[in-house]
Amino acid sequence: MVFPDVSPYENSRIPKSLGRCKLSSFVSDVVMFFGGALVALLLVWSLWSFANSNPSAAPNFSKATTPSYGATSLDNAASAGGFDLRHDQPELTFYDDPKMSYSVENPVKNWDEKRRRWLEHHRSFTNGASERVLLVTGSQPSPCRNPDGDHLLLRFFKNKVDYCRRHGYEIFYNNVLLNPKMFTFWAKYPVVRAAMVAHPEAEWIWWVDSDAAITDMDFKLPLKRYKDHNLVVHGWADMIYEKKSWTGLNAGVFLIRNCQWSMDFLDKWASMGPQSPDYDKWGEIQRSIFRDKLFPESDDQTALAYLILTEKERWADKIYTEGEYYFEGYWHEIVGTLDHINDRYVQIEKRARRLRRRHAEKVSESYSQMMEPYLKGAGNGRGSWRRPFITHFTGCQPCSGKYNQLYSGDSCSEGMQKALNFADNQVLRNFGYIHPDIRNSSIVTPLPFDFPS
Ligand SMILES: *[C@@H]1O[C@H](CO)[C@@H](O)[C@H](O)[C@H]1NC(C)=O
Ligand SMILES: *[C@@H]1O[C@H](CO)[C@@H](O)[C@H](O)[C@H]1NC(C)=O
Repeated sequence: MVFPDVSPYENSRIPKSLGRCKLSSFVSDVVMFFGGALVALLLVWSLWSFANSNPSAAPNFSKATTPSYGATSLDNAASAGGFDLRHDQPELTFYDDPKMSYSVENPVKNWDEKRRRWLEHHRSFTNGASERVLLVTGSQPSPCRNPDGDHLLLRFFKNKVDYCRRHGYEIFYNNVLLNPKMFTFWAKYPVVRAAMVAHPEAEWIWWVDSDAAITDMDFKLPLKRYKDHNLVVHGWADMIYEKKSWTGLNAGVFLIRNCQWSMDFLDKWASMGPQSPDYDKWGEIQRSIFRDKLFPESDDQTALAYLILTEKERWADKIYTEGEYYFEGYWHEIVGTLDHINDRYVQIEKRARRLRRRHAEKVSESYSQMMEPYLKGAGNGRGSWRRPFITHFTGCQPCSGKYNQLYSGDSCSEGMQKALNFADNQVLRNFGYIHPDIRNSSIVTPLPFDFPS
């Protein structure tokens, strides 16, 4: 078997067994997670009836000469999202320590304390810090070999930007190899490590491969569920422990907490990479345990499975293998279901007028909470009609174009168009347009008022 020719930040590893999501177990979490939905629903109902009580009285906008929030907060360009961006505290922080490094090769000590002190000195960032997410992704430094590759990467990136804008997350796109020795699937670790140091205000770094699309713009990461964990990956622990399969998880999308444990874990994880003198040895060890691994080189996914299997107390207890929804899902089992899923959502909106009310993009989260009760029977993951959260084009390699021989190039490229347009429709809707056919990226039509009544 040949070593996969992988561009950095793309995923060549297709899962051997298809998704194994249990449809029922997610429901209770969803009920808890969307517990505020009812409150939001009642609130919106009351606002709706209020607005409708006197529909002919047009509001007088010129009355608002002194807005209650005060003109200064609007005019203050230094403040963005409540953050004070124009002031750094004079007190020394870890940034002033010449020994402090952004690189995976230099361990960090006392990171939790350093981060905490930085936040103490930068009070405008403390509010909401415990759930703050920075999405990190990237692609190679040079143009793609696939003629459509750069356009596809642009669309995959736009998709992530759209999601982040809707949910108030920040995003970092990297397109250099920070450590040239850490090529292929190892390239993301130096980026994640540098992002942790560059963004002490972020609690979570959310790595998403360039070839993964967020196909449910409404879904929010259930961060409360991960409160006792430091790393979240899509996977099934029993496939790692019992079947010793390297496809028991996927390392193309993960959430890692910005803390000392993660600094140590990244050091350990990356120590099996190509920059290490033990790289060949690790390849052999991985293959001797995970017998379904196809190629001899040590890879990050098997390395993670290895650490989960062999160092339970040190690492595995803090790693959450999320198998209950598409934290990332295999595109091949997803793209054929997108039309049906769309039909189901449209049916719901036809029945529930408040769901189809036009609204500003900024308040879309309140509408997704309102939608939640209608999705109770939808299930999650494989076989469900809930929108898949992330559709991962693993094996398609849009940039290099070296798709896995199992698929035709057309099925990859049609699948990507469908998933990206399916996601884009959820965004365009707030701008008044829709792709009537998710197979055709070029065509949009304006949405009539009260769509889809
Ligand atoms: C709107 O409010 C302004 C300022 O109070 C007032 O001068 C103007 O006449 C009002 N216009 C209407 C249509 O009520
Ligand atoms: C999209 O629709 C346009 C106009 O009907 C057509 O010219 C184009 O070939 C279509 N593209 C695809 C990929 O079907």
